[in-house]
Amino acid sequence: MHYPDFPFKRIHLKETNSTSSYLRTLCNTQATEEFTVISTDFQTAGRGQRGNSWESEEKKNLLFSLLLTPSFLPANEQFILSQVVSLSIKEELDTYGSGFSIKWPNDIYWNDKKICGILIENDLQGSYLSQSIAGIGININQEAFHSSAPNPVSLKQITGKEHDLNSILENILCRLDSYYKKIQSGYMESISQTYYNALFRKEVFAGFSDKNGKFTARIIRVEPSGLLVVADKDGMERSYAFKEISYIL
Ligand code: BTN
Repeated sequence: MHYPDFPFKRIHLKETNSTSSYLRTLCNTQATEEFTVISTDFQTAGRGQRGNSWESEEKKNLLFSLLLTPSFLPANEQFILSQVVSLSIKEELDTYGSGFSIKWPNDIYWNDKKICGILIENDLQGSYLSQSIAGIGININQEAFHSSAPNPVSLKQITGKEHDLNSILENILCRLDSYYKKIQSGYMESISQTYYNALFRKEVFAGFSDKNGKFTARIIRVEPSGLLVVADKDGMERSYAFKEISYIL
């Protein structure tokens, strides 16, 4: 289905294996406009981070992928895309209640539960980005979760109400469009500060684990490269790339 009134080019599919895989194939086979969105009612092979699958009941949730072509962005600044995608979603969810935060690097949490997962797949050309596919799953109206995913929650479980998927999607894309323009205008520092302020468990001592075991530390900053820097009770700093550290929930 096509949406003539929708301010972004959108293709909605009743079913697909994965909106991100569909979008990638589309880009490989034809010229595809930046900000094209593929959304679906149901994914048969939804992909998550760390090789996990992403499960979602048919027609209940937002499942979409968005194409960006940030050829102006140096590869070592690609984390800014994770920041603006996460912020656009978190700020839209903030309009429905409190308790939303970004769990580094780019999960959206409500208190200690996960409401949204983001999988960003970047392609490079030389030392710049060429294409970025942001795949986003947000639990909106699902009432019960059966998969092994840890701590899922939906917006309906939080608010007690059913929500309109299309208007939430449109609002998120408008927010993202405006953040994307800020990146193009070079406002990286202010975006990173806003991202830091939105982080889950920042500046409080909390349990983490890394390859050496469990420890207590607090988040003190996120480097522009995306590295997470934590400090233990003695002030000793350690920095981690994605997948090198886990939160103990
Ligand atoms: C995560 O594991 O937290 C990331 C989940 C990302 C899921 C979304 S749903 C839409 C898009 N298509 C996919 O196959 N995955 C992403």
